[in-house]
Amino acid sequence: MELLPLWLCLGFQFLTLGWRNRNGMATASQGRCLLVEGVADCRGQNLESVPSHLPPYSQRLILDANPLKTLWNHSLQPYPRLESLSLHGCQLGRIGRGAFRGQARLRSLALPDNSLSESYKDTAAAFRRLQALRRLDLSGNSLTEDMAALMLRNLSSLESVSLARNTIMRLDDSVFEGLGRLRELDLQRNYIFEIEGGAFDGLTELRHLNLAYNNLPCIVDFSLRQLRFLNISYNVLEWFLASGAEAAFELETLDLSHNQLLFFPLLPQCSKLHTLLLRDNNMGFYGDLYNASSPREMVAQFLLVDGNVTNITTVNLWEEFASSDLADLRFLDMSQNQFQYLPDGFLKKMPSLSHLNLNQNCLMTLHIREHEPPGALAELDLSQNQLSELHLAPGLPGCLRSLRSFNLSSNQLRGIPTGLFADASNITTIDMSHNQISLCPQPAGLARLDPPRCVDFRNVASLRSLSLEGCGLRALQDCSFQGTALTHLDLSGNWGLLNGTLAPLRDIAPTLQVLSLRNVGLRSSFMELDFSGFGNLRDLDLSGNSLTSFPRFGGSLALQTLDLRRNSLTALPQRAVSEQLTRSLRTIYLSQNPYDCCGVEGWGSLQRLHTIADLAMVTCNLSSKVIRLMELPGGMPQDCKWERVDMGLLYLVLILPSCLTLLVACTVIFLTFRKPLLQVIKSRCHWSSIY
Ligand SMILES: *[C@@H]1O[C@H](CO)[C@@H](O)[C@H](O)[C@H]1NC(C)=O
Ligand SMILES: *[C@@H]1O[C@H](CO)[C@@H](O)[C@H](O)[C@H]1NC(C)=O
Ligand SMILES: *[C@@H]1O[C@H](CO)[C@@H](O)[C@H](O)[C@H]1NC(C)=O
Ligand SMILES: *[C@@H]1O[C@H](CO)[C@@H](O)[C@H](O)[C@H]1NC(C)=O
Ligand SMILES: *[C@@H]1O[C@H](CO)[C@@H](O)[C@H](O)[C@H]1NC(C)=O
Ligand SMILES: *[C@@H]1O[C@H](CO)[C@@H](O)[C@H](O)[C@H]1NC(C)=O
Ligand SMILES: *[C@@H]1O[C@H](CO)[C@@H](O)[C@H](O)[C@H]1NC(C)=O
Ligand SMILES: *[C@@H]1O[C@H](CO)[C@@H](O)[C@H](O)[C@H]1NC(C)=O
Ligand SMILES: *[C@@H]1O[C@H](CO)[C@@H](O)[C@H](O)[C@H]1NC(C)=O
Ligand SMILES: *[C@@H]1O[C@H](CO)[C@@H](O)[C@H](O)[C@H]1NC(C)=O
Repeated sequence: MELLPLWLCLGFQFLTLGWRNRNGMATASQGRCLLVEGVADCRGQNLESVPSHLPPYSQRLILDANPLKTLWNHSLQPYPRLESLSLHGCQLGRIGRGAFRGQARLRSLALPDNSLSESYKDTAAAFRRLQALRRLDLSGNSLTEDMAALMLRNLSSLESVSLARNTIMRLDDSVFEGLGRLRELDLQRNYIFEIEGGAFDGLTELRHLNLAYNNLPCIVDFSLRQLRFLNISYNVLEWFLASGAEAAFELETLDLSHNQLLFFPLLPQCSKLHTLLLRDNNMGFYGDLYNASSPREMVAQFLLVDGNVTNITTVNLWEEFASSDLADLRFLDMSQNQFQYLPDGFLKKMPSLSHLNLNQNCLMTLHIREHEPPGALAELDLSQNQLSELHLAPGLPGCLRSLRSFNLSSNQLRGIPTGLFADASNITTIDMSHNQISLCPQPAGLARLDPPRCVDFRNVASLRSLSLEGCGLRALQDCSFQGTALTHLDLSGNWGLLNGTLAPLRDIAPTLQVLSLRNVGLRSSFMELDFSGFGNLRDLDLSGNSLTSFPRFGGSLALQTLDLRRNSLTALPQRAVSEQLTRSLRTIYLSQNPYDCCGVEGWGSLQRLHTIADLAMVTCNLSSKVIRLMELPGGMPQDCKWERVDMGLLYLVLILPSCLTLLVACTVIFLTFRKPLLQVIKSRCHWSSIY
């Protein structure tokens, strides 16, 4: 017995040796650094200085997450061929003035998350030797604008600089002086509230500028013509105004989301803009508030003060988009704003528009007019507005011919223009959830109402996905989805929709893959729900109904996920049903049903066959107690076995011993005290007669 620990120790020893050997063979390791083709990776090795024994020809050195604290003059001397050095999170406070002596080949230097503000002058002096440096990452170093300016001075070879997550507040024309080759500048997550005119003037090659998460209150006279990408999201912008000149801008992507803009931005008159992101601002169009009689008064004048020169720019706010060049615009996100309408000619200016997002605005009507066919539009999101009407100019056939996805969820629509979906011959996805609509054909009684306000999905052959959740639909007619090949259908929250029969879904049963029938008032008393014809169904949601028995799934079945929560099931599925499902079913939800603890024999095998996603929440009901099924010992509790026994017999068994005892006791007493007892009674009677 004493040998056992020894054996264990030996075994462990061998294991660790074996592991070390294998590790050693996979890659050459020097000390604790991995060496692969000129790259020395010493990440997180708790090194306090740069290792000096690495191969001198190393080109790339990764020292991230080591507590170096200081980069000495001699630290990098053994590696004169370095092209890339990464010192992410090394607690660096000091970099010796001579630390980069002889590093003429260094092109990429990453120093994020250190404390370089501590002795920034030495660091700046050290950088001056890096005359080949292209990429410099100084993010997360608590640098102010003066420190940054000093560090970047004369690094004229730089192409990409990150100063993200520092404490820069103002930018003037000295900060980026002499960085003539800079293409990419990241200034996100600083505290910039002011950019002086001319701050970026020397950056003639600048393409990519990120100013997200700063405190900029406005951009006026934007004139960076060379810029392709500009991100000013998450600031406090109230104005964006491009310089009025007619010069061509290269701008392609502009992100102004999460600001406080009140007006549509005043964009360059000539640009290549293809993506414009305006999500989460306070924008609206205001033209309809004012009379056409006095449009000239609706102007804003900007005073641009630069030194002792003051320029006045006049802008007509009610036609703010009119002068912007939106001809190349493909992606426009105007969600989460205050737009109440789209002005005449707005869509006409964007012939290339393919994605338009107007989610969460205050639109009440949408009027697509004759001369603004959004012919390229593939995705249109109008969800969460107050739309009660959609208008299409008459005689505008196929104006939505490219539309693939149309989201009208959560509006106040009661119908849509006749033939809209029939014209949209490419449409695959329609979300009309949370609108009070009815479907065509209507029941005979209602159809005679003048003009029939129903939405017709019949014969929309391209349609694959349809959501009609919470639409207040009445009992479905048998052919509402005739001529479609729907794969995804959501009919949840329409109480009484399927009046005890799955017949209305028969047309699409062979193609359906995902079907949601949550909260539609299904009861199995009508019939046993039979999904036999649904040969491709993968995902079925029947939660929140009143099913008392398990649905039937005959035939070949692809079902993978089944949700039966919040029903009235009292027993688990019969073994036969369960085995039938085994072939494909992967996940099943069963909780919030009043199972009888005595009817859960199938539990063990069910658990073995499928993943019960809400296992811990499945409970059953044992004589007015609620018990988690997981906690039931050995499947069925003892009490149930008792309950199974005939109640009469049970009572007999319980009562019989007491009766027998009583009988015996009586007999014994009777036999023992027969005479004296009688006498006692007699004498008592006698005494009582005295009274
Ligand atoms: C590092 O080198 C610089 C000159 O390149 C010198 O001024 C400085 O004193 C040196 N620092 C140390 C600690 O040797
Ligand atoms: C930066 O370069 C300019 C000329 O391009 C030179 O006059 C100046 O001395 C340099 N500054 C430093 C600190 O090297
Ligand atoms: C702009 O920056 C924010 C914050 O980093 C980011 O979430 C967003 O995706 C960026 N926009 C674009 C268009 O890349
Ligand atoms: C519009 O003009 C009419 C008369 O021209 C005037 O009665 C009305 O008050 C004006 N409305 C607004 C909002 O200025
Ligand atoms: C105003 O600007 C001019 C040049 O634009 C300059 O000559 C003049 O000194 C400036 N005046 C003041 C008071 O700054
Ligand atoms: C003011 O306008 C003049 C002429 O249009 C222009 O040359 C000058 O650059 C402008 N100044 C500012 C600060 O916009
Ligand atoms: C459907 O869209 C494709 C491009 O996605 C387009 O080529 C085709 O013409 C469209 N179909 C119709 C009928 O417009
Ligand atoms: C439609 O928009 C709603 C609300 O914005 C969203 O929840 C839903 O997922 C969208 N539908 C589709 C099909 O994208
Ligand atoms: C529901 O079905 C029953 C018989 O199955 C029928 O009498 C009743 O009219 C139907 N209700 C509706 C609204 O179709
Ligand atoms: C137990 O089940 C019965 C029906 O069989 C139900 O009426 C009762 O409310 C259930 N008890 C609990 C605590 O859920």
